[in-house]
Amino acid sequence: MKRLAVLASGSGTNLQAILDAAADPAYPAAVVLVLSDKPGSGALSRAEAAGVPTEVVTWDEHGGDRRAFTKAVVETLRSHGVELVVLAGFMRILSEEAIHAFPNAILNTHPALLPSFKGAHACEDALEAGVKISGVTVHVVDVEVDAGPIVAQAPVEVRDDDTPESLQERIKAVEHDLFPKVIAEWARAEWEVVGGRTRRRGRVPI
Ligand code: GAR
Repeated sequence: MKRLAVLASGSGTNLQAILDAAADPAYPAAVVLVLSDKPGSGALSRAEAAGVPTEVVTWDEHGGDRRAFTKAVVETLRSHGVELVVLAGFMRILSEEAIHAFPNAILNTHPALLPSFKGAHACEDALEAGVKISGVTVHVVDVEVDAGPIVAQAPVEVRDDDTPESLQERIKAVEHDLFPKVIAEWARAEWEVVGGRTRRRGRVPI
Protein backbone atom coordinates (compact mmCIF):
# COMPACT_ATOMS: atom_id res chain seq x y z
CA MET A 1 0.00 0.00 0.00
CA LYS A 2 1.69 3.22 -1.20
CA ARG A 3 1.37 6.38 0.86
CA LEU A 4 -0.13 8.85 -1.60
CA ALA A 5 -0.31 12.65 -1.41
CA VAL A 6 -2.64 14.64 -3.66
CA LEU A 7 -1.67 18.25 -4.44
CA ALA A 8 -4.58 20.40 -5.60
CA SER A 9 -5.39 24.09 -5.99
CA GLY A 10 -9.00 24.08 -7.16
CA SER A 11 -12.38 22.49 -6.74
CA GLY A 12 -10.85 19.05 -6.30
CA THR A 13 -13.11 16.91 -8.47
CA ASN A 14 -10.09 14.80 -9.46
CA LEU A 15 -9.13 14.50 -5.82
CA GLN A 16 -12.68 13.27 -5.16
CA ALA A 17 -12.35 10.62 -7.86
CA ILE A 18 -9.08 9.45 -6.28
CA LEU A 19 -10.60 9.40 -2.78
CA ASP A 20 -13.57 7.40 -4.08
CA ALA A 21 -11.29 4.89 -5.84
CA ALA A 22 -9.02 4.62 -2.79
CA ALA A 23 -12.01 3.76 -0.59
CA ASP A 24 -11.86 0.29 -2.14
CA PRO A 25 -9.64 -1.85 0.13
CA ALA A 26 -8.09 -3.41 -3.00
CA TYR A 27 -6.79 -0.02 -4.16
CA PRO A 28 -2.98 -0.08 -3.90
CA ALA A 29 -2.57 3.43 -2.46
CA ALA A 30 -3.88 5.27 0.59
CA VAL A 31 -4.38 9.03 0.46
CA VAL A 32 -2.40 10.12 3.53
CA LEU A 33 -2.25 13.84 2.72
CA VAL A 34 -3.96 16.53 0.65
CA LEU A 35 -1.76 19.57 0.19
CA SER A 36 -3.05 22.81 -1.30
CA ASP A 37 -1.51 26.18 -2.06
CA LYS A 38 -4.97 27.74 -1.75
CA PRO A 39 -6.50 28.13 1.71
CA GLY A 40 -10.24 27.49 1.48
CA SER A 41 -10.02 25.50 -1.75
CA GLY A 42 -12.69 22.94 -2.56
CA ALA A 43 -9.98 20.30 -2.50
CA LEU A 44 -9.30 20.97 1.19
CA SER A 45 -13.02 20.72 2.02
CA ARG A 46 -13.26 17.41 0.21
CA ALA A 47 -10.22 16.07 2.09
CA GLU A 48 -11.66 17.18 5.42
CA ALA A 49 -14.99 15.54 4.57
CA ALA A 50 -13.10 12.30 3.85
CA GLY A 51 -11.08 12.55 7.06
CA VAL A 52 -7.77 12.93 5.23
CA PRO A 53 -5.04 15.13 6.79
CA THR A 54 -4.52 18.45 5.02
CA GLU A 55 -1.68 20.94 4.78
CA VAL A 56 -1.54 24.39 3.18
CA VAL A 57 1.68 25.77 1.70
CA THR A 58 1.09 29.12 0.03
CA TRP A 59 3.16 30.75 -2.66
CA ASP A 60 3.06 34.14 -0.92
CA GLU A 61 4.39 32.90 2.43
CA HIS A 62 7.55 31.96 0.53
CA GLY A 63 7.78 35.33 -1.20
CA GLY A 64 6.96 33.82 -4.57
CA ASP A 65 10.33 32.04 -4.49
CA ARG A 66 9.84 28.75 -6.36
CA ARG A 67 12.74 26.94 -4.63
CA ALA A 68 11.63 28.00 -1.15
CA PHE A 69 8.03 27.04 -1.97
CA THR A 70 9.13 23.66 -3.32
CA LYS A 71 11.38 23.03 -0.30
CA ALA A 72 8.43 23.61 2.02
CA VAL A 73 6.22 21.31 -0.06
CA VAL A 74 8.88 18.55 -0.07
CA GLU A 75 9.45 18.86 3.70
CA THR A 76 5.70 18.63 4.28
CA LEU A 77 5.42 15.54 2.06
CA ARG A 78 8.37 13.92 3.86
CA SER A 79 6.89 14.68 7.28
CA HIS A 80 3.84 12.63 6.26
CA GLY A 81 5.92 9.72 4.96
CA VAL A 82 4.64 10.20 1.41
CA GLU A 83 5.92 7.79 -1.27
CA LEU A 84 3.86 8.79 -4.32
CA VAL A 85 2.65 12.29 -5.25
CA VAL A 86 -0.08 13.25 -7.71
CA LEU A 87 -0.90 16.70 -9.01
CA ALA A 88 -4.65 17.01 -9.47
CA GLY A 89 -5.18 20.56 -10.67
CA PHE A 90 -2.16 21.89 -8.77
CA MET A 91 -1.54 25.22 -10.47
CA ARG A 92 2.00 25.84 -9.19
CA ILE A 93 5.19 24.71 -10.86
CA LEU A 94 7.57 22.87 -8.55
CA SER A 95 11.33 23.32 -8.94
CA GLU A 96 13.65 20.40 -9.66
CA GLU A 97 14.21 19.70 -5.95
CA ALA A 98 10.79 18.02 -5.92
CA ILE A 99 11.71 15.78 -8.85
CA HIS A 100 14.95 14.79 -7.13
CA ALA A 101 13.12 14.10 -3.86
CA PHE A 102 10.49 11.94 -5.62
CA PRO A 103 12.12 10.53 -8.76
CA ASN A 104 9.52 9.06 -11.14
CA ALA A 105 7.06 9.30 -8.27
CA ILE A 106 5.11 12.44 -9.19
CA LEU A 107 2.23 12.09 -11.67
CA ASN A 108 0.21 14.94 -13.21
CA THR A 109 -3.05 15.05 -15.13
CA HIS A 110 -3.13 17.63 -17.91
CA PRO A 111 -6.31 18.71 -19.79
CA ALA A 112 -4.95 18.25 -23.34
CA LEU A 113 -3.15 15.69 -25.47
CA LEU A 114 0.48 16.57 -24.76
CA PRO A 115 2.79 17.66 -26.26
CA SER A 116 0.03 19.95 -27.61
CA PHE A 117 -1.26 22.75 -25.42
CA LYS A 118 1.13 22.75 -22.49
CA GLY A 119 0.61 25.26 -19.71
CA ALA A 120 -2.20 26.64 -17.60
CA HIS A 121 -4.67 27.47 -20.44
CA ALA A 122 -4.86 24.18 -22.29
CA CYS A 123 -8.59 24.28 -23.06
CA GLU A 124 -8.53 27.90 -24.28
CA ASP A 125 -5.49 27.11 -26.41
CA ALA A 126 -7.11 24.00 -27.93
CA LEU A 127 -10.23 26.00 -28.90
CA GLU A 128 -8.09 28.80 -30.28
CA ALA A 129 -6.18 26.32 -32.45
CA GLY A 130 -9.43 24.82 -33.76
CA VAL A 131 -8.53 21.21 -33.03
CA LYS A 132 -11.39 18.71 -33.25
CA ILE A 133 -9.96 16.31 -30.68
CA SER A 134 -8.35 17.22 -27.38
CA GLY A 135 -8.18 15.09 -24.27
CA VAL A 136 -6.34 14.04 -21.16
CA THR A 137 -2.70 13.19 -20.57
CA VAL A 138 -1.36 11.58 -17.42
CA HIS A 139 2.40 11.94 -17.28
CA VAL A 140 5.38 11.69 -14.98
CA VAL A 141 6.49 15.11 -13.75
CA ASP A 142 9.95 16.05 -14.92
CA VAL A 143 12.03 19.22 -14.79
CA GLU A 144 10.51 20.67 -17.96
CA VAL A 145 6.87 21.66 -17.42
CA ASP A 146 4.25 19.33 -19.00
CA ALA A 147 7.00 17.45 -20.81
CA GLY A 148 7.66 14.39 -18.62
CA PRO A 149 7.14 10.83 -19.85
CA ILE A 150 3.54 10.18 -20.91
CA VAL A 151 1.82 7.28 -19.15
CA ALA A 152 -1.71 7.40 -20.59
CA GLN A 153 -3.89 9.52 -22.83
CA ALA A 154 -7.59 9.61 -23.71
CA PRO A 155 -9.35 11.66 -26.39
CA VAL A 156 -12.20 14.10 -25.90
CA GLU A 157 -14.14 15.50 -28.85
CA VAL A 158 -14.17 19.27 -29.25
CA ARG A 159 -17.63 20.60 -30.16
CA ASP A 160 -18.33 23.63 -32.33
CA ASP A 161 -20.15 25.40 -29.51
CA ASP A 162 -17.61 24.56 -26.79
CA THR A 163 -16.38 27.18 -24.38
CA PRO A 164 -13.17 26.57 -22.40
CA GLU A 165 -15.41 25.70 -19.45
CA SER A 166 -17.62 23.20 -21.30
CA LEU A 167 -14.59 21.49 -22.84
CA GLN A 168 -12.86 21.34 -19.46
CA GLU A 169 -15.94 19.76 -17.87
CA ARG A 170 -16.00 16.92 -20.43
CA ILE A 171 -12.25 16.51 -20.03
CA LYS A 172 -12.67 16.27 -16.28
CA ALA A 173 -15.24 13.50 -16.67
CA VAL A 174 -12.62 11.49 -18.56
CA GLU A 175 -9.88 12.35 -16.05
CA HIS A 176 -12.05 11.09 -13.20
CA ASP A 177 -11.97 7.66 -14.78
CA LEU A 178 -8.42 7.61 -16.16
CA PHE A 179 -6.35 9.26 -13.41
CA PRO A 180 -7.27 6.94 -10.50
CA LYS A 181 -6.65 3.91 -12.76
CA VAL A 182 -3.22 5.15 -13.82
CA ILE A 183 -2.30 6.03 -10.23
CA ALA A 184 -3.20 2.48 -9.19
CA GLU A 185 -1.07 1.01 -11.96
CA TRP A 186 1.83 3.26 -11.03
CA ALA A 187 1.47 2.35 -7.34
CA ARG A 188 1.60 -1.34 -8.30
CA ALA A 189 4.84 -0.63 -10.24
CA GLU A 190 3.27 -1.88 -13.47
CA TRP A 191 5.19 0.81 -15.38
CA GLU A 192 8.80 1.81 -15.72
CA VAL A 193 10.58 4.78 -17.27
CA VAL A 194 13.20 3.84 -19.85
CA GLY A 195 15.00 6.40 -21.97
CA GLY A 196 12.56 9.17 -21.17
CA ARG A 197 9.48 7.10 -22.06
CA THR A 198 7.23 4.88 -20.02
CA ARG A 199 6.52 1.26 -20.80
CA ARG A 200 4.73 -1.61 -19.16
CA ARG A 201 7.16 -3.71 -17.14
CA GLY A 202 8.18 -6.96 -18.72
CA ARG A 203 7.48 -5.85 -22.28
CA VAL A 204 10.45 -5.98 -24.61
CA PRO A 205 10.41 -3.13 -27.14
CA ILE A 206 10.29 -4.30 -30.76
C1 GAR B 1 -8.18 19.37 -14.20
O1 GAR B 1 -8.88 19.39 -15.41
C2 GAR B 1 -6.68 19.25 -14.47
O2 GAR B 1 -6.36 18.55 -15.62
C3 GAR B 1 -6.29 20.69 -14.62
O3 GAR B 1 -7.03 21.37 -13.64
C4 GAR B 1 -8.29 20.71 -13.47
C5 GAR B 1 -8.54 20.55 -11.99
O4 GAR B 1 -9.87 20.24 -11.75
N1 GAR B 1 -4.89 20.87 -14.46
C6 GAR B 1 -4.17 21.77 -15.10
O5 GAR B 1 -4.65 22.58 -15.88
C7 GAR B 1 -2.69 21.76 -14.77
N2 GAR B 1 -1.97 22.56 -15.72
P1 GAR B 1 -10.35 19.75 -10.32
O6 GAR B 1 -9.84 20.75 -9.29
O7 GAR B 1 -11.84 19.74 -10.42
O8 GAR B 1 -9.78 18.37 -10.11
